[in-house]
Amino acid sequence: MSRVAERIISVGGGKGGVGKSLVSTNLAIAMAQEGRRVVLVDADLGASNLHTLLGLERPGPTLQSFLEHEVESLEEARVETNVPGLSLVRGASAVVGSANISHGQKQRLLRHLRDLTADVVVVDVGAGTGFNQVDLFDVGDLKLAVMTPQLTSIQNAYAFVKGTVYRRLGRLMKTHGLEGALAEKHDGPGHEMASLRAVLRDVFAASPALEAEVRRELSRFRLRLFGNQVYDPREAGVFRAVGKMMTDFLSVAAPLLGFARASRLMHDSATQRRPYLLLAKHEESALALRAAARALLQEPLEEESPSVGRGVPAPMTAETAAA
Ligand SMILES: Nc1ncnc2c1ncn2[C@@H]1O[C@H](COP(=O)(O)OP(=O)(O)O)[C@@H](O)[C@H]1O
Ligand SMILES: [Mg+2]
Repeated sequence: MSRVAERIISVGGGKGGVGKSLVSTNLAIAMAQEGRRVVLVDADLGASNLHTLLGLERPGPTLQSFLEHEVESLEEARVETNVPGLSLVRGASAVVGSANISHGQKQRLLRHLRDLTADVVVVDVGAGTGFNQVDLFDVGDLKLAVMTPQLTSIQNAYAFVKGTVYRRLGRLMKTHGLEGALAEKHDGPGHEMASLRAVLRDVFAASPALEAEVRRELSRFRLRLFGNQVYDPREAGVFRAVGKMMTDFLSVAAPLLGFARASRLMHDSATQRRPYLLLAKHEESALALRAAARALLQEPLEEESPSVGRGVPAPMTAETAAA
């Protein structure tokens, strides 16, 4: 089957309750309203609820049907929503044990996400920092980390992004027979806040070619941040601060796409089973979500992304690492 999904946007962030599901659902709606064919995938394997947020209670196929081979493609598991242009692959509805998928099931899911017929696939990767969430986050051509200004959310989002960066680079190192290079150092005492450049200093000194490959890999890591549940716009500075930490310590650009305020309507939308963007047309947070959706649609995906320049990672040469 050919690669048909033009753009996969993964939405993660580590912590539960921060708004990943609300943000991914409303971004998907905004993109459909921009005229794109969008498939939203509820990949929160343990606690799916996007069908509720979209007000879909009819029975039908779910991600579970796909994982258990009741349907042979993810394409067959999608159902239309009430929003024109938007379809949904519903999650396995909170079945105990549904969070535990095998490696083979995960690989099949990752493959089939790309095979969906759509302009855009939005994946709600769910909470947690396990390999399932990290690998689903990494599949995104654009990766959106959602967080609130609370310290716990910021910590989890940072750890989640770090886990994804290290897993991706770990794979690259492995192809060079250097699987230990990242693993040993990254978890050891005192290394929680070591920069990637410092961790890889010796490796780069020994192999400038590998350094070039690492840099290429990191430039393809298109991470964006979105803040949620903001009470006071001054709190948004914390999102830029964590973005700077990601750039300084993980060598990935992490621009802030925007933030949504804590909003009564947003809160009520979940209970009322009516998507926020259909309830609130002109609220500031609705405008912020629409602007973020447009930015995610317009971001070029070619090699040299023009967004490099805003918060560019520092060059990873051995000299700068030693500095
Ligand atoms: N901007 C917001 N304003 C008010 N309440 C919000 C906002 N974002 C999220 N919430 C509340 O948090 C709950 C959890 O959001 P959800 O999107 O399900 O989080 P996650 O998917 O990250 O676990 C929602 O049901 C809603 O009550
Ligand atoms: Mg959720």
